[in-house]
Formats: sequence, C-alpha cells, structure tokens
Amino acid sequence: MTALASVRETPGLDGYLEAVEVRLEAALAGYPGLAATAAGEALTGGKRLRPLLAFLAAPPGSEPPVAAGAAIELVHMATLVHDDLVDRAALRHGRPSVWSTYGSGAAVATGDFLFARGFAELATTRDARAVGVLAEAAVALSRGEALQRRQAFDPDTTIESYLERCTLKTGKLFEAACRLAGGSGEFGRTLGIAFQIADDILDCAGDAADTGKVPGTDLREGTPTLPLLLAAREDQIVRRALAGGSLEGALVRVAATGALDQARETALMYAERARASLNGELHREELEALTYAAVERNR
Ligand code: IPE
Ligand code: IPE
Ligand code: MG
Ligand code: MG
Ligand code: MG
Repeated sequence: MTALASVRETPGLDGYLEAVEVRLEAALAGYPGLAATAAGEALTGGKRLRPLLAFLAAPPGSEPPVAAGAAIELVHMATLVHDDLVDRAALRHGRPSVWSTYGSGAAVATGDFLFARGFAELATTRDARAVGVLAEAAVALSRGEALQRRQAFDPDTTIESYLERCTLKTGKLFEAACRLAGGSGEFGRTLGIAFQIADDILDCAGDAADTGKVPGTDLREGTPTLPLLLAAREDQIVRRALAGGSLEGALVRVAATGALDQARETALMYAERARASLNGELHREELEALTYAAVERNR
C-alpha cells in the first residue's frame, strides 16, 4: 500500500493515531475479564482505516476526532468479531479469530462488549447527534448482514442488490467516520463501497500471509460477491459452487474468467466517485490517495 504509506506522513496523524490507541486500551481496561481480553486481541493488527479516515475528513481548525475515531474502531471491531462467527472464519489478522479461540458464546459477548464500549466512548463527547450517526451506521450494518443472509447461495443476486449490501455493511460506517469528524458522508460511503469490493476480490485472489484471513470464505459460505457473481455468469462450475455445490477448483476458475478485473473496474469507479465528491477539504490530497489505496491493496 504505497499510497497509504504517503498518507501516513500527514502532519499530526501519528500523534492522533497514538491517542486513539490509548483511548482503545482505556476503553477495555475498565472492565477486565474474558470479553476485554478477547476484545484486546481482536483489536490487535487492524489497519485503523476508519479512525484515519475521520482524521483526514475533519475540517480545518477542528480538534482531531480522537473519541470518534476510537468509537468507530470499537464498533468496527465488534462487527468483525460477530462477522467471523457468522462467516465461520477461523483467522483474523493472521491469528485465530475470537470464536475459534474462545467459542461462539464468548464471541457474541465480546462483540456486544465492543459495541457497548464504542457507544460509551462517543457518549463521553455529550454529542447526541454523533451518537445518532453511529447508531444509524450500526443499524445499517445489521441490515446489510441480514440482506447478505437472504442473498446466500443465490448466483442470480443482482449487482444492484450486491451494491446495496456493500453500502449498508461497509459504506455506512465509512460515511459515519467522515460525518463524525465533520466531513462529507458521500465521500466515505462511496470509498467504503470501493473498499468492500476490493475486500471481496482479495477473498478470491488474496494471499493469507497478507490479508491475515483465509481466502475462499465467501465462496464457501455462498456469499455472492461481485467477482463471484461475474464469474458465475461465465462459468457453470463457479455458478454451481456459489449455489452450494462442489467447491473443487472453483476459485481457480474464478481467476481464469475476467471477473476479478471487472470487479476491480467497478471498485475504481466508486473510488473515482469518492474523489469527485471532494470539495475543498483540508486533506484533499491524502483523501484522494486513500481512494487509490482502498482498491490497490493486498491486505
Ligand atoms: C474488514 O475491514 C471488513 C470489511 C469491511 C471489508 P478492514 O480490512 O478495515 O479490517 P481491519 O480494520 O484492518 O481489521
Ligand atoms: C465485511 O464483510 C464485514 C462487515 C462489514 C461486518 P466480510 O465478511 O467480507 O469481511 P471480512 O472479509 O471477513 O473482513
Ligand atoms: Mg467475514
Ligand atoms: Mg461477512
Ligand atoms: Mg471479506
């Protein structure tokens, strides 16, 4: 992620991200126990992209959004702890996921704990509007996951409803990161869609050593992502695999179609849309770099 490496040089960013880390630790420290231990492990190794986005989206003259950044990251990690349970994903950040280490019940409790600590963090700002924005994103996330459940094992899922799912499960939290910082929601939402499409490509063609996740999880779970939907149009074996049939050789066939490139084109289109929504932001250059990094990444 070279574009992201340049973003990381932004003045003030290091200090801000360190402050977010301190806040994250403090958010767990007050409630020692299994949930806090598991939550701490889940938080280790994340890219902290949403707090970064909040920092870059903040308007000139505003305080760095530390509480908002920590709150967003806590809610994000809550969704990942639950997500790995739902997706039966054994690895996260290159280590066993919470449910595989501590069991399903502990993973449910850990995710709930992280959600609660995220909202509590934001409540310290006494900004009811901000809490409302984060709540809206959390509701969207659960609606996105519910939609995904309805789409499972359906290779005829429309691209439109796939994109709606990406908006709900990923775009809205990116949108919230921008809005909580006082920036443009539209930028975050479209960037989030590009980011999710890239994630879905990485699930087909990424390397576990980079992503820290097991590739092929989406196909195994029947999750109709853009690359899988496009490949299923061209290849009957992929189509049958996505519908719940044999997975044998299916991922290799996905890569043999043009689906990964086509999906990447769509991700780039959303990244372009995100750039087009920018309007005189203080960190315009860095935000633009982020739109490239969201698509051209290996983790
Ligand atoms: C993973 O998000 C879930 C998606 C929305 C695709 P990230 O890739 O930002 O995960 P972390 O924060 O680095 O763990
Ligand atoms: C994103 O979808 C998860 C959430 C937004 C909760 P994925 O299920 O593809 O995320 P990863 O790949 O496990 O990180
Ligand atoms: Mg998952
Ligand atoms: Mg999932
Ligand atoms: Mg994924």
